[in-house]
Amino acid sequence: MLERARTAYFEELARVGNPSALHKSGRLARSVVEDARERMARALGAHPTELIWTSGGTEADNIALKGLYWARHSADPRRTRIVTTAIEHHAGLDPAHWLEAEHGATAVVLPVDREGRVDIAALRAEVAENFDHIALISVMWANNEVGAIQPIHEIVNIATEHGIPVHADAVQAVGHVPVDFKASGLATMAVSAHKFGGPVGVGALVARRDLTITPLTHGGGQERKIRSGTLNAAGFHAAAVAAEQAVAELADEAERLGALQRDLIRRIGEAIPDARLSGPQPGPERLPGNVHFIFPGCAAEALMFVLDSHGVEASNGSACTAGVAQASHVLMAMGRSERDAASTMRFSLGHTTVPEDIDALMAVLPEAVERARKVAGTFQQEVFG
Ligand SMILES: Cc1ncc(COP(=O)(O)O)c(C=O)c1O
Repeated sequence: MLERARTAYFEELARVGNPSALHKSGRLARSVVEDARERMARALGAHPTELIWTSGGTEADNIALKGLYWARHSADPRRTRIVTTAIEHHAGLDPAHWLEAEHGATAVVLPVDREGRVDIAALRAEVAENFDHIALISVMWANNEVGAIQPIHEIVNIATEHGIPVHADAVQAVGHVPVDFKASGLATMAVSAHKFGGPVGVGALVARRDLTITPLTHGGGQERKIRSGTLNAAGFHAAAVAAEQAVAELADEAERLGALQRDLIRRIGEAIPDARLSGPQPGPERLPGNVHFIFPGCAAEALMFVLDSHGVEASNGSACTAGVAQASHVLMAMGRSERDAASTMRFSLGHTTVPEDIDALMAVLPEAVERARKVAGTFQQEVFG
């Protein structure tokens, strides 16, 4: 967490009072929630009444996909199609597949190019042919594995012509690239505080006021009756403090991280010549803190364990089942082989990353890759034959 957010969090944790209670402590806690709502909304380019606090990005994505689908489908039963992409985070992809399995929806999964950018021609064709049948379009603002930034404005333009709402999972984008909800023309947008220096377990769904969203949970009727549950005043306060700082420092921080990113990519390329960068080149189409490589012949979890033993904590960015790295659905969608998609490593650079961290990584990475390759040879033979 950013230091300012952490301090704000601790201070608020000492406060007593449920923000929905009418007594003095309750009213004070409510004023903290509403102040945080205003500050957070301002940082996101939204109106405070558009902000619905949640427990994080997963909940916000689920409310948007299910809530919009149910409302739009019940207003017009022809609307059964949910248009999404093959590289969404599971928080966006799985609700679409669940609605397909359980609620008669059709999930239309758009392909991406080799850099992980959504195929706009495929979207245009789908909208031209089926606009009457589309309940919503859901595309992530930036991808969490390979850092590819999606053409959200172009997508919104295509959808708006037919009044189709667009949801964006902006979890990886907020605080890292400029995000302005109003200017984007989006219907809804999911954010998560721990991705920009706020606390874990806090997020928000930004939702235009003219939309009907069917709630997933029912109870106390908080947050426009869309998200019932006791309001987490301390968490929202800390999230707003973090969002303000991350957005205010965005331009400088993106430049600083971009320089570290380019340096790391160059040095990996020199030290491990067969390593291949995934996703767009550094620049406006890639998150500045994301470095993602395929290390051919190197099972991700073997490399992760070797790096971990040297104090380097990296991730392969894909789900682990029973300790076995699965081939990433994102890399597969980008046209990589199953073997390559299971041989990836993502290095995430953030506000605490300094040049010495890049040196420390490069001091161990080439040998770690060699060691992991030896182990991986046996392992991959078993898995892939
Ligand atoms: C793109 C994206 N969406 C959604 C999520 C889920 O957010 P949360 O952990 O706050 O539920 C993540 C988390 O890594 C993410 O990267």
